[in-house]
Amino acid sequence: MKRDAWILIAWLCASMLLAQHNVNYDEEKVPKYVLPELLQLQNGEKVTSVEQWEKQRRPEIMELFASEVYGRTPTDRIKVTYETITENPNALKGKATTRQVRFTFSSEGENGDKGRNGSVSEDETREAILLLYIPNKRKGKVPVFVGYNYNGNHSITHDIKVLYPPTLHLVEELGSPAWERDNQTRRWPLEIIIDRGYAIATMCYHDIFPDNPSMKERSVIPLFTGYSSNNRPTNEKTGSGSTGTTGQDSSQSASDEWQAIGAWAWGSSRIVDYLETQKEIDSDKIAIMGHSRQGKAALWAGAQDERFKVVISNDSGCGGAALFRREFGETIEIINNTFPHWFCDNFQKYNKREPSLPIDQHQLIALIAPRKAYVASANEDLWADPKGEFLSAYHAGPVYRLYALSAIDSDTMPKLHAPIMEDIGYHIRAGKHDVTDYDWKCYLDFADKHFKK
Ligand code: GCU
Repeated sequence: MKRDAWILIAWLCASMLLAQHNVNYDEEKVPKYVLPELLQLQNGEKVTSVEQWEKQRRPEIMELFASEVYGRTPTDRIKVTYETITENPNALKGKATTRQVRFTFSSEGENGDKGRNGSVSEDETREAILLLYIPNKRKGKVPVFVGYNYNGNHSITHDIKVLYPPTLHLVEELGSPAWERDNQTRRWPLEIIIDRGYAIATMCYHDIFPDNPSMKERSVIPLFTGYSSNNRPTNEKTGSGSTGTTGQDSSQSASDEWQAIGAWAWGSSRIVDYLETQKEIDSDKIAIMGHSRQGKAALWAGAQDERFKVVISNDSGCGGAALFRREFGETIEIINNTFPHWFCDNFQKYNKREPSLPIDQHQLIALIAPRKAYVASANEDLWADPKGEFLSAYHAGPVYRLYALSAIDSDTMPKLHAPIMEDIGYHIRAGKHDVTDYDWKCYLDFADKHFKK
């Protein structure tokens, strides 16, 4: 293994050990907290109508998540091309058609204008491979679940024709378990999903941002105008252009520059762009499902892209569904120290200062309204704070009610395996941090209900 990789692993282990040391798992020690108001404008005015929410309050909250937590998603569009590499009408014993599609992202602007350095070079492209399963038994267009996988498309299937991700070598040593075919099939019950009439669109998340603090340069982020450029305007609020933690060389990154979670969210919207071109897919019925760090990205994607009609967070924890202010399990300081490449640099300001954060995660869920949101927890996954995940789904309720939609009625957590399926859904199951068939069964039921299948 390369020396750098060992140093990185040692650093990750050390910071995780250090982090675990001061973690609170005692409900009695949860600090008293007051959540930021959902339905009150920054000028103090109460929000009483959908119009006020959509025109005034929602943009205020969006702005805070972008500037303080996840970073700003660029507004410029880069060029994306798709190439179908394989098509197999006989996958899953004839139940599905699979397609593997190469996405090429290029720093060339959408209309052919030049990229960030004024010229386009070979280096300024990135590749990702989408794996799409479409049920063969279908009447008309089908709904679809979009979701990243962790170890590569090859990891979710026994099918030897399914390719390895172009980026896995950047983060996983050759021969490590991630390279084994079908090492994550457990989390992707393809036949169950296909039998219920849903398509699946999945991609390895490393293809968008290889998940390692040193890999920003190999992510899609440098393809955008203004990346790490000294021309980039400084952040007005902090008066600083950089905190220097994730910037490279002498160039600076703005403290609200997007990072990995922002990039993963952006990438899932590019999957939707592609799905909209596919005749078999019903683009009014697109669900996104993300587990853990991808649950965080799924919520942020769902907040930003209204084409996601059902948004599902599985065990997403800190920076996902869990309320920061409970400081139960993983905290802002811990997550920023362990994963400095996930959130924008401004987020570091809130290390050990949760009460000063102007938003909390119930507001992220509320941004999804009136589309449907579902949060799931596992009772042994204390690191992700199941109660904090539940409470943020509960406290998003007032916005759903503003739309005359249904929400979670009680702030008492439901029993194990007793899913709530209102316009906001929630369940807690027995077991560890994972995605199980039980979780998928609930997501399929929730999607059936809202897609009126
Ligand atoms: C770590 C991290 C969590 C994250 C999880 C995952 O445990 O601390 O925030 O959700 O990894 O993505 O599996």
